[in-house]
Amino acid sequence: MVETRIKGILLAGGSGTRLYPMTQGASKQLLPVYDKPMIYYPLTTLMLAGIQDIMIISTPNDLPQFKRLLGDGSHLGVRFEYCEQPSPDGIAQAFILARDWLQNSPCALVLGDNLIFADHLGELLQKAASRSHGATVFAYQVRDPERYGVVSFDEAGKAQQIIEKPAEPPSNWAVTGLYFYDARVSEFASRIKPSPRGEYEITDLNQIYLEDNSLHVERLGRGCAWLDAGVPDSLMQAGLFVQTIQSRQGMLVGSPEEVAYRKGFIDSEALRNLAKKLKKTELGRMLAEIVDGPPV
Ligand code: TTP
Repeated sequence: MVETRIKGILLAGGSGTRLYPMTQGASKQLLPVYDKPMIYYPLTTLMLAGIQDIMIISTPNDLPQFKRLLGDGSHLGVRFEYCEQPSPDGIAQAFILARDWLQNSPCALVLGDNLIFADHLGELLQKAASRSHGATVFAYQVRDPERYGVVSFDEAGKAQQIIEKPAEPPSNWAVTGLYFYDARVSEFASRIKPSPRGEYEITDLNQIYLEDNSLHVERLGRGCAWLDAGVPDSLMQAGLFVQTIQSRQGMLVGSPEEVAYRKGFIDSEALRNLAKKLKKTELGRMLAEIVDGPPV
């Protein structure tokens, strides 16, 4: 399989104050979403896009735990790089921190608490990853847009404006925590100044692309689930969602092992070994079945 040049950043820092006391002793992105640590889901999303060079950014306190969980990535046929974000100064700061590592590559960014699940997601992501000019973001209709960056569209369906957490949302289309940017991203990000709340806002970066007339907004429809597991209810919903699909359909959601195998990053022997390590779990059994079929 031809390796894509695009790199990926997984942002897994933050303070998780809306999940206190759960996040007073552990990183939010290590909390369980049903049978896996939360970070597995956004990691799987990046890998589905064909990305094999991934930088994991987290707090100085939490970074060692991520290293312990994920290692150098070789077991998944990918390369992990780790980077500290000394304080949670905003999502767009990722590109300032990753600048040297990026070396002007195009880059996808995913938030560590975002789960996206859709039919044909792989195709959608590959398309965004292969776009060499501009940025791609995904919009999803929600009931509480004021919690997110909100995008409005003109009559032709073209994105008109993006506003961060508006008191009066111009639409109910929220921008999800998955973004694809072209090679100009580090340069554009360096133009951003901290907002009144003191953060490098991802919405400001998207606004730069919008003004450059190169922001593509893909609307995700009914058949797609986007969940951010940042508050107790959504954390619970995300877990129930994963449990429902896995037990009803017998298909894994958010398994980097499965995606590594399906993308050709690892071979069947490597997947068998990964499954063996998890043999006391249903997850391990499901992985083993992917290579060898159901036990006879
Ligand atoms: P948020 O949910 O906006 O922030 P948070 O995780 O600190 O949580 P809370 O609001 O409950 O205090 O962050 C979204 C994702 O981005 C989450 O996975 C954490 C990550 N993040 C960082 O890694 N660094 C940052 O500077 C920010 C703002 C977020």
